[in-house]
Amino acid sequence: MEYIIPMVNNIISLIASDNDVDLINEGPRFKKCCEDFRGYYWPSKRSQGYHEPDCRDPYYQIAYLYKYAPLRADIITHIFEKETCLRELIENSSSSLACVLGTGPGTELIGLAKWIELRKIEKQIEFILMDEVEEWLGCLYHIQGQISSRTKNIDIIKYYYSNEVYGDIVNDDNLKNIDFYIILYVISEIMRNDEKLSAFSNLMNQLFRKSRRGTKIIFVDRNENSVDAIIRKVVDNDLVSLSEKRSPSWDRYPSSSGSTNNFQIEYDEKLASFGDLYENLKINFNESPELGGNVFWVVGTIN
Ligand SMILES: C[S@@+](CC[C@H](N)C(=O)[O-])C[C@H]1O[C@@H](n2cnc3c(N)ncnc32)[C@H](O)[C@@H]1O
Repeated sequence: MEYIIPMVNNIISLIASDNDVDLINEGPRFKKCCEDFRGYYWPSKRSQGYHEPDCRDPYYQIAYLYKYAPLRADIITHIFEKETCLRELIENSSSSLACVLGTGPGTELIGLAKWIELRKIEKQIEFILMDEVEEWLGCLYHIQGQISSRTKNIDIIKYYYSNEVYGDIVNDDNLKNIDFYIILYVISEIMRNDEKLSAFSNLMNQLFRKSRRGTKIIFVDRNENSVDAIIRKVVDNDLVSLSEKRSPSWDRYPSSSGSTNNFQIEYDEKLASFGDLYENLKINFNESPELGGNVFWVVGTIN
Protein backbone atom coordinates (compact mmCIF):
# COMPACT_ATOMS: atom_id res chain seq x y z
CA MET A 1 0.00 0.00 0.00
CA GLU A 2 1.38 3.42 -0.86
CA TYR A 3 0.99 5.62 2.20
CA ILE A 4 4.26 6.91 3.59
CA ILE A 5 6.00 8.72 0.73
CA PRO A 6 3.01 10.86 -0.33
CA MET A 7 2.45 11.78 3.32
CA VAL A 8 6.12 12.65 3.92
CA ASN A 9 6.08 14.67 0.71
CA ASN A 10 3.05 16.68 1.92
CA ILE A 11 4.74 17.28 5.26
CA ILE A 12 7.91 18.50 3.53
CA SER A 13 5.82 20.95 1.47
CA LEU A 14 4.10 22.24 4.61
CA ILE A 15 7.40 22.72 6.47
CA ALA A 16 8.82 24.48 3.40
CA SER A 17 5.85 26.79 3.22
CA ASP A 18 5.94 27.59 6.98
CA ASN A 19 9.62 28.54 6.69
CA ASP A 20 9.78 30.11 3.21
CA VAL A 21 12.03 27.35 1.96
CA ASP A 22 12.38 27.06 -1.81
CA LEU A 23 12.43 23.31 -2.38
CA ILE A 24 13.59 23.44 -5.98
CA ASN A 25 16.20 26.18 -6.05
CA GLU A 26 17.92 25.30 -2.79
CA GLY A 27 19.25 21.98 -4.08
CA PRO A 28 22.89 22.64 -3.06
CA ARG A 29 21.80 23.43 0.48
CA PHE A 30 19.79 20.20 0.72
CA LYS A 31 22.72 18.29 -0.74
CA LYS A 32 24.94 19.66 2.03
CA CYS A 33 22.39 18.69 4.69
CA CYS A 34 22.25 15.15 3.26
CA GLU A 35 26.07 14.95 3.29
CA ASP A 36 26.14 16.13 6.89
CA PHE A 37 23.64 13.44 7.93
CA ARG A 38 25.76 10.81 6.18
CA GLY A 39 28.85 12.06 7.99
CA TYR A 40 26.99 12.14 11.29
CA TYR A 41 25.89 8.51 11.01
CA TRP A 42 29.09 7.28 9.32
CA PRO A 43 32.00 9.40 10.59
CA SER A 44 34.38 7.88 8.01
CA LYS A 45 32.24 9.44 5.26
CA ARG A 46 32.54 13.03 6.54
CA SER A 47 33.16 15.51 3.75
CA GLN A 48 35.25 18.64 3.99
CA GLY A 49 33.21 21.33 5.67
CA TYR A 50 31.21 18.76 7.66
CA HIS A 51 28.83 20.20 10.25
CA GLU A 52 26.82 18.25 12.75
CA PRO A 53 23.19 18.32 11.52
CA ASP A 54 21.09 20.84 13.41
CA CYS A 55 17.51 19.60 13.44
CA ARG A 56 16.22 22.95 14.64
CA ASP A 57 16.90 24.12 11.07
CA PRO A 58 14.08 23.43 8.56
CA TYR A 59 16.60 22.51 5.83
CA TYR A 60 17.99 19.68 7.96
CA GLN A 61 14.46 18.69 8.94
CA ILE A 62 13.45 18.41 5.28
CA ALA A 63 16.64 16.51 4.41
CA TYR A 64 15.96 14.03 7.24
CA LEU A 65 12.35 13.53 6.18
CA TYR A 66 13.40 12.98 2.57
CA LYS A 67 16.36 10.67 3.19
CA TYR A 68 15.47 8.63 6.26
CA ALA A 69 11.85 8.96 7.42
CA PRO A 70 10.17 6.76 4.74
CA LEU A 71 12.22 3.63 5.40
CA ARG A 72 12.09 4.05 9.16
CA ALA A 73 8.32 4.58 9.13
CA ASP A 74 7.92 1.44 7.04
CA ILE A 75 10.06 -0.58 9.47
CA ILE A 76 7.51 0.29 12.15
CA THR A 77 4.68 -0.91 9.87
CA HIS A 78 6.62 -4.13 9.28
CA ILE A 79 7.33 -4.77 12.97
CA PHE A 80 3.66 -4.40 13.88
CA GLU A 81 2.88 -6.89 11.12
CA LYS A 82 5.43 -9.38 12.44
CA GLU A 83 5.21 -9.12 16.22
CA THR A 84 2.06 -10.89 17.33
CA CYS A 85 2.40 -9.57 20.87
CA LEU A 86 2.21 -5.97 19.63
CA ARG A 87 -0.64 -6.64 17.24
CA GLU A 88 -2.65 -8.35 19.97
CA LEU A 89 -1.91 -5.63 22.43
CA ILE A 90 -3.61 -3.11 20.12
CA GLU A 91 -6.36 -5.37 18.85
CA ASN A 92 -7.42 -6.63 22.26
CA SER A 93 -8.36 -3.32 23.83
CA SER A 94 -10.41 -0.36 22.67
CA SER A 95 -7.48 2.02 23.05
CA SER A 96 -3.74 1.88 23.71
CA LEU A 97 -1.20 4.39 24.89
CA ALA A 98 2.21 4.58 23.20
CA CYS A 99 5.21 6.61 24.36
CA VAL A 100 7.89 7.45 21.80
CA LEU A 101 11.28 8.57 23.10
CA GLY A 102 13.41 10.52 20.57
CA THR A 103 10.59 10.83 18.06
CA GLY A 104 12.23 13.53 15.89
CA PRO A 105 9.71 14.30 13.15
CA GLY A 106 7.25 11.65 14.41
CA THR A 107 8.24 8.87 12.02
CA GLU A 108 6.68 6.25 14.31
CA LEU A 109 3.21 7.78 13.97
CA ILE A 110 3.34 7.53 10.20
CA GLY A 111 4.40 3.87 10.35
CA LEU A 112 1.66 2.98 12.83
CA ALA A 113 -0.95 4.97 10.92
CA LYS A 114 -0.07 3.01 7.78
CA TRP A 115 -0.36 -0.27 9.68
CA ILE A 116 -3.79 0.49 11.16
CA GLU A 117 -5.07 1.56 7.75
CA LEU A 118 -3.58 -1.53 6.09
CA ARG A 119 -5.15 -3.87 8.63
CA LYS A 120 -8.33 -1.80 9.00
CA ILE A 121 -7.85 -1.61 12.73
CA GLU A 122 -10.61 0.34 14.44
CA LYS A 123 -8.83 0.91 17.75
CA GLN A 124 -7.59 4.14 19.22
CA ILE A 125 -3.83 4.69 19.72
CA GLU A 126 -2.80 7.69 21.77
CA PHE A 127 0.75 8.98 21.82
CA ILE A 128 3.01 10.70 24.29
CA LEU A 129 6.02 11.96 22.31
CA MET A 130 9.37 13.18 23.53
CA ASP A 131 12.43 14.65 21.85
CA GLU A 132 15.17 17.03 22.86
CA VAL A 133 14.49 19.23 19.81
CA GLU A 134 11.46 21.45 20.33
CA GLU A 135 11.55 22.67 16.73
CA TRP A 136 10.18 19.32 15.53
CA LEU A 137 6.83 20.38 16.96
CA GLY A 138 5.73 22.13 13.73
CA CYS A 139 6.36 18.90 11.82
CA LEU A 140 4.39 16.89 14.38
CA TYR A 141 1.38 19.19 14.01
CA HIS A 142 1.50 18.59 10.27
CA ILE A 143 1.78 14.83 10.74
CA GLN A 144 -1.19 14.90 13.08
CA GLY A 145 -3.13 16.93 10.47
CA GLN A 146 -2.22 14.56 7.65
CA ILE A 147 -3.06 11.45 9.64
CA SER A 148 -6.33 12.80 11.00
CA SER A 149 -7.55 13.49 7.46
CA ARG A 150 -7.47 9.67 6.99
CA THR A 151 -8.20 8.22 10.44
CA LYS A 152 -9.51 9.45 13.76
CA ASN A 153 -7.74 6.60 15.54
CA ILE A 154 -4.37 8.22 16.16
CA ASP A 155 -3.94 11.09 18.52
CA ILE A 156 -1.00 12.91 20.13
CA ILE A 157 -1.99 13.66 23.71
CA LYS A 158 1.30 15.13 24.94
CA TYR A 159 4.67 16.25 23.65
CA TYR A 160 7.72 16.76 25.82
CA TYR A 161 10.90 18.39 24.63
CA SER A 162 14.39 19.34 25.81
CA ASN A 163 16.51 18.14 28.65
CA GLU A 164 15.13 20.76 31.01
CA VAL A 165 11.64 19.31 31.00
CA TYR A 166 12.66 15.69 31.49
CA GLY A 167 11.28 16.07 35.00
CA ASP A 168 7.84 16.63 33.54
CA ILE A 169 7.63 13.40 31.60
CA VAL A 170 8.90 11.48 34.60
CA ASN A 171 6.01 12.88 36.65
CA ASP A 172 3.35 12.25 34.02
CA ASP A 173 0.37 10.46 35.60
CA ASN A 174 -0.12 8.53 32.37
CA LEU A 175 3.09 6.51 32.77
CA LYS A 176 1.30 3.66 34.52
CA ASN A 177 -1.11 3.42 31.58
CA ILE A 178 1.51 3.14 28.84
CA ASP A 179 1.12 -0.04 26.80
CA PHE A 180 4.27 0.26 24.74
CA TYR A 181 7.33 2.42 24.21
CA ILE A 182 9.07 2.88 20.86
CA ILE A 183 12.73 3.88 20.65
CA LEU A 184 13.55 4.09 16.95
CA TYR A 185 17.10 4.88 15.77
CA VAL A 186 17.98 6.76 18.95
CA ILE A 187 20.59 4.48 20.55
CA SER A 188 22.84 4.38 17.48
CA GLU A 189 22.66 8.17 17.29
CA ILE A 190 23.75 8.81 20.87
CA MET A 191 25.93 5.81 21.66
CA ARG A 192 29.21 7.58 20.86
CA ASN A 193 28.41 10.40 23.27
CA ASP A 194 28.78 9.11 26.85
CA GLU A 195 27.00 12.08 28.38
CA LYS A 196 23.97 11.81 26.11
CA LEU A 197 23.80 8.06 26.43
CA SER A 198 23.91 8.21 30.19
CA ALA A 199 21.23 10.97 30.40
CA PHE A 200 18.98 9.06 28.01
CA SER A 201 19.39 5.74 29.79
CA ASN A 202 18.68 7.33 33.19
CA LEU A 203 15.52 8.83 31.81
CA MET A 204 14.44 5.61 30.12
CA ASN A 205 14.89 3.51 33.25
CA GLN A 206 13.05 6.06 35.38
CA LEU A 207 10.11 5.89 33.00
CA PHE A 208 10.17 2.09 32.88
CA ARG A 209 10.22 1.96 36.68
CA LYS A 210 7.01 3.98 36.78
CA SER A 211 5.29 1.94 34.08
CA ARG A 212 3.26 -1.15 34.82
CA ARG A 213 4.28 -4.80 34.55
CA GLY A 214 3.89 -6.23 31.05
CA THR A 215 4.47 -2.90 29.24
CA LYS A 216 6.37 -3.53 26.00
CA ILE A 217 9.42 -1.62 24.80
CA ILE A 218 10.43 -1.78 21.15
CA PHE A 219 13.99 -0.80 20.30
CA VAL A 220 14.65 -0.58 16.55
CA ASP A 221 18.02 0.33 15.15
CA ARG A 222 20.97 -0.31 12.86
CA ASN A 223 21.76 -4.00 12.72
CA GLU A 224 25.15 -3.86 14.43
CA ASN A 225 26.26 -5.94 17.38
CA SER A 226 27.60 -2.83 19.09
CA VAL A 227 24.13 -1.25 19.06
CA ASP A 228 22.52 -4.40 20.45
CA ALA A 229 25.23 -4.56 23.14
CA ILE A 230 24.61 -0.95 24.18
CA ILE A 231 20.85 -1.55 24.48
CA ARG A 232 21.54 -4.52 26.76
CA LYS A 233 24.00 -2.47 28.76
CA VAL A 234 21.85 0.63 29.31
CA VAL A 235 18.51 -1.04 30.05
CA ASP A 236 18.15 -2.03 33.70
CA ASN A 237 17.84 -5.78 33.29
CA ASP A 238 16.28 -6.35 36.71
CA LEU A 239 13.46 -4.19 35.45
CA VAL A 240 13.11 -5.26 31.83
CA SER A 241 13.44 -8.63 30.07
CA LEU A 242 14.76 -8.19 26.55
CA SER A 243 14.01 -10.59 23.70
CA GLU A 244 16.73 -11.91 21.45
CA LYS A 245 17.72 -9.75 18.48
CA ARG A 246 15.15 -9.92 15.69
CA SER A 247 15.41 -8.88 12.07
CA PRO A 248 13.32 -9.08 8.91
CA SER A 249 15.46 -11.96 7.49
CA TRP A 250 14.35 -11.21 3.99
CA ASP A 251 10.86 -12.46 4.55
CA ARG A 252 9.49 -9.40 2.84
CA TYR A 253 11.41 -9.52 -0.44
CA PRO A 254 13.44 -12.75 -0.50
CA SER A 255 14.60 -12.09 -4.05
CA SER A 256 16.79 -9.22 -2.86
CA SER A 257 18.66 -11.39 -0.40
CA GLY A 258 22.06 -10.86 -2.07
CA SER A 259 22.24 -7.34 -0.70
CA THR A 260 23.89 -6.38 2.59
CA ASN A 261 20.58 -4.86 3.63
CA ASN A 262 17.95 -6.99 5.29
CA PHE A 263 15.01 -4.66 4.80
CA GLN A 264 13.50 -2.90 1.83
CA ILE A 265 10.69 -0.36 1.79
CA GLU A 266 7.45 -1.76 0.39
CA TYR A 267 7.56 -1.64 -3.43
CA ASP A 268 4.23 0.21 -3.54
CA GLU A 269 5.93 3.20 -1.92
CA LYS A 270 7.06 5.04 -5.04
CA LEU A 271 9.86 7.60 -5.12
CA ALA A 272 7.99 9.38 -7.90
CA SER A 273 5.56 10.52 -5.20
CA PHE A 274 8.30 12.88 -4.02
CA GLY A 275 7.66 14.70 -7.34
CA ASP A 276 9.92 17.61 -8.26
CA LEU A 277 11.94 17.35 -5.06
CA TYR A 278 13.09 13.85 -6.00
CA GLU A 279 13.66 14.77 -9.64
CA ASN A 280 15.88 17.62 -8.57
CA LEU A 281 17.81 15.97 -5.75
CA LYS A 282 18.29 12.69 -7.58
CA ILE A 283 19.15 13.99 -11.03
CA ASN A 284 21.18 17.07 -10.13
CA PHE A 285 22.65 16.02 -6.78
CA ASN A 286 22.56 12.23 -6.75
CA GLU A 287 20.64 12.21 -3.45
CA SER A 288 17.96 9.54 -3.19
CA PRO A 289 16.03 8.54 -0.10
CA GLU A 290 17.29 5.40 1.63
CA LEU A 291 15.01 2.60 0.52
CA GLY A 292 16.91 -0.29 2.03
CA GLY A 293 18.61 -0.78 5.35
CA ASN A 294 20.10 -3.31 7.70
CA VAL A 295 17.88 -3.26 10.76
CA PHE A 296 17.09 -5.18 13.91
CA TRP A 297 14.71 -4.87 16.77
CA VAL A 298 14.45 -6.08 20.32
CA VAL A 299 11.24 -6.28 22.32
CA GLY A 300 11.48 -5.65 26.05
CA THR A 301 8.85 -6.48 28.66
CA ILE A 302 8.70 -4.72 32.01
CA ASN A 303 8.94 -7.30 34.83
C1 LIG B 1 18.00 9.51 14.37
S1 LIG B 1 16.79 10.46 15.11
C2 LIG B 1 15.43 9.34 15.11
C3 LIG B 1 14.12 10.06 15.01
C4 LIG B 1 12.93 9.11 14.82
N1 LIG B 1 12.79 8.25 15.96
C5 LIG B 1 13.14 8.32 13.57
O1 LIG B 1 13.53 7.16 13.66
O2 LIG B 1 12.95 8.87 12.48
C6 LIG B 1 17.22 10.44 16.83
C7 LIG B 1 16.35 11.39 17.64
O3 LIG B 1 16.69 11.25 19.00
C8 LIG B 1 16.63 12.52 19.60
N2 LIG B 1 17.43 12.48 20.80
C9 LIG B 1 18.76 12.29 20.90
N3 LIG B 1 19.14 12.33 22.20
C10 LIG B 1 18.02 12.55 22.92
C11 LIG B 1 17.75 12.70 24.29
N4 LIG B 1 18.74 12.62 25.19
N5 LIG B 1 16.49 12.91 24.67
C12 LIG B 1 15.51 12.98 23.76
N6 LIG B 1 15.68 12.86 22.44
C13 LIG B 1 16.93 12.64 22.03
C14 LIG B 1 17.18 13.45 18.53
O4 LIG B 1 16.79 14.79 18.75
C15 LIG B 1 16.56 12.85 17.28
O5 LIG B 1 15.32 13.44 16.98
